[in-house]
Amino acid sequence: MTNLHGKRIVLGITGGIAAYKSAAIASRLVQSGAMVDVVLTESAQKFITPLTFQSLTHRRVFTDIFDIPPAENIPHIELSHQIDLLLIAPATANTIAKMAHGQADNLLTAIALATDKPILIAPAMETDMWEHPATRRNIATLTEWGVAQVGPAAGRLASGRMGRGRMAEPDEIVDAARQVLAKNGDMVGMRVVVTAGGTREPIDPVRYITNRSGGKMGHALAEVARDRGAQVTLVTTAGLPAPSGVSVVRVNTAAEMADAVLTAIPESDALVMAAAVADYRPAEIAPQKIKKGDGGLTLSLVRTPDILQLVAKYRAETGFPRKVVGFAAETTDVRRNAQEKLARKRLDWIAANDVSRTDAGFGVETNQVTLFGADGSVVELPLMSKTAVAAEIWNRVAGK
Ligand code: PMT
Repeated sequence: MTNLHGKRIVLGITGGIAAYKSAAIASRLVQSGAMVDVVLTESAQKFITPLTFQSLTHRRVFTDIFDIPPAENIPHIELSHQIDLLLIAPATANTIAKMAHGQADNLLTAIALATDKPILIAPAMETDMWEHPATRRNIATLTEWGVAQVGPAAGRLASGRMGRGRMAEPDEIVDAARQVLAKNGDMVGMRVVVTAGGTREPIDPVRYITNRSGGKMGHALAEVARDRGAQVTLVTTAGLPAPSGVSVVRVNTAAEMADAVLTAIPESDALVMAAAVADYRPAEIAPQKIKKGDGGLTLSLVRTPDILQLVAKYRAETGFPRKVVGFAAETTDVRRNAQEKLARKRLDWIAANDVSRTDAGFGVETNQVTLFGADGSVVELPLMSKTAVAAEIWNRVAGK
């Protein structure tokens, strides 16, 4: 569940060819649990129909400021005050100009002028229009007023020319909407550090020892904290895309992860260690690829640093991170092993998951964890998405 769940969003669509991508934006917002009211300008309707959006949102689509059914409130007044976000995608040079000059000659620009809620625009136009001094000035005016912007990207434009002016992709726009909404989140002002993925301990230049962690749990923790307004550092080994608005530190080995975590935790409010850190690494890294012989091969392994124990030492000296949460990946005796790690690593909470299950732990989208608290509390959560597990963990850290 993201911070879009339960939010009311006006998706304003203006007249550009990128309007066809707005259907994907509407669909993603609805799938994330947002209530989406679509407003199409007259020129937007030349590119895409109200029926498309009515089918996707299951709600009435607004097109005309004067189309007010009897006994209903004036749409632009109601929509502008009862929403959490006004998202305009695509935003043409014309609509941007109207907004920058306080014009309200259609329903969408009237909502933009009347609303006291956050506005996010996704500009889309030809490069010459984007670079024109008038557009530059209009964008600067909107930015000064606090209007957020995503894109435009550089690439092939509708004219066939290459340049800046392409609307950002729907996923990027939805992500930007999450970041705008995060500004009112319950973790605003918090600094948190999250680790993700399995460490890779090299044997030689082409081989390494690792585990099955793909990083989804840690990345979900980072995204949920960001959506709730926290400033997030994500130390990750995973090849997953960097969540926007998160400070990402890419590492490989347990030693590199230890360094990155110790660099990130001063003054931090919380550390959540979802990474599957190798306990052992090869004693020597062969400088050249090891050639196969007739016999077997014996690798000599030595211990890696226990990052949480290093963190516990630093915390005892400085008080930071204020809260520390670990994970326990177990296949047997989940409760006993998790409680032993909670005490030995001096954690506030440990999230125990049974990684022998096929629907929890490594790689999959879902997880089933039991949270053990240093105060003796035990919270057994049902099987849920990793995003929902992340929300439960942050609820404890943020004291909800
Ligand atoms: O990444 P995914 O594919 O989404 O999978 C998620 C997950 C299964 C990896 C995750 O939910 C999880 O369980 N992460 C912890 C895995 C792990 O290393 O567990 P552990 O029981 O071996 O370690 C206990 C804790 O000590 C962990 O918080 C670990 O990060 C930490 N640790 C471990 C070894 C070490 N040298 N230093 C550490 O700090």
